[in-house]
Amino acid sequence: MIEFKNVTKTYPNGTTALKNVNLKIRDGEFVFIVGPSGAGKTTLTKLLTREEKITGGKLIVDKYDLGKMRTSRVPYLRRSLGMVFQDFRLFPNMTVYENVAFAMRVVGESARKIRRIVPHMISLVNLEDKMRSYPTQLSGGEQQRVALARALVNNPNIIIADEPTGNIDPKMSMEIMDLLVRINKLHKTVIVVTHEKGLVDYFQKRVISINEHEIVSDKVGEYEVETDEDAVFSAVYDEEARRGDAAENQNTDTAQRAAVRRSPQDAPLAASTAERSAVRRRQQAPAGSTAQREAVHRTPNAADAAHRDSARRARQNAAHTNRPSEKTDPTEQEGRQ
Ligand SMILES: Nc1ncnc2c1ncn2[C@@H]1O[C@H](COP(=O)(O)OP(=O)(O)OP(=O)(O)O)[C@@H](O)[C@H]1O
Ligand SMILES: [Mg+2]
Repeated sequence: MIEFKNVTKTYPNGTTALKNVNLKIRDGEFVFIVGPSGAGKTTLTKLLTREEKITGGKLIVDKYDLGKMRTSRVPYLRRSLGMVFQDFRLFPNMTVYENVAFAMRVVGESARKIRRIVPHMISLVNLEDKMRSYPTQLSGGEQQRVALARALVNNPNIIIADEPTGNIDPKMSMEIMDLLVRINKLHKTVIVVTHEKGLVDYFQKRVISINEHEIVSDKVGEYEVETDEDAVFSAVYDEEARRGDAAENQNTDTAQRAAVRRSPQDAPLAASTAERSAVRRRQQAPAGSTAQREAVHRTPNAADAAHRDSARRARQNAAHTNRPSEKTDPTEQEGRQ
């Protein structure tokens, strides 16, 4: 459970980025956070990870009261969070493989397990052929997918993705979102910050809109402000819907049923409580969620095949749609924060 009670964040320079935020996100929810640039979306994610501290109100994440939490406890909080940063934060001197493996290493996973899991995660984001590349040798979208693989690799309970499709073309965005939706079916909380109306409208999830540092709406459904670029996304997703996509019924098993090993080091917000929490989630799963339980028990290979299948459909679909222009030149990324 995540709960904001009258939360305010004012940065040291006097900028108030969030005002009187009241918000509850239950375990296993899928939530979009939308709003214009500068509204306070990234700040909200930074409060959740305790990268920034609230300056008013109360913020609870699972059993932690983040306003009162001692800094020495923050690594424990972060083990249950997987974060995809708007600016990626990959290590430039590490390859794709090493960037993802690092997140497992810092929580003390065995070399054997790392060798087994990392390639699987990298293939889940379709980057098998870039495993040995360095971040500077990748496009913005490829870096973003590495960041996603790293966020997921320790099987966190809560996944927070800040513009995970911000540098990706529509068909790849669809694949990434499809992956997040399937992960959500494993009773993981997924919070996605995005500007993309088409994507938000397609998935029909809970949408929390922030405008001028305040929550202005919170409802299931659609993003309210449309741009030309959004219209392109809508076209792709509408087409996908017409094809009667069966993605809803596909489940993945990204849960690696990991053993948790406490580590004295802090991970780059990528660590998790893996097996302990997976077991707890299974116990807590509502009686009707057979599919969810089955998903947890499915093999990675089956999940992978399901994902590839869905990815192929999305690619085929995109080939039938007017190809939209690439959204963002990766070199523009610096200016986006
Ligand atoms: N470290 C900081 N110090 C001072 N002000 C900041 C800091 N970080 C963000 N802000 C300000 O807080 C407000 C909210 O910023 P935030 O990054 O949360 O916006 P955002 O909704 O994520 O925008 P975008 O869509 O452009 O990423 C903005 O006015 C921004 O200038
Ligand atoms: Mg932001």
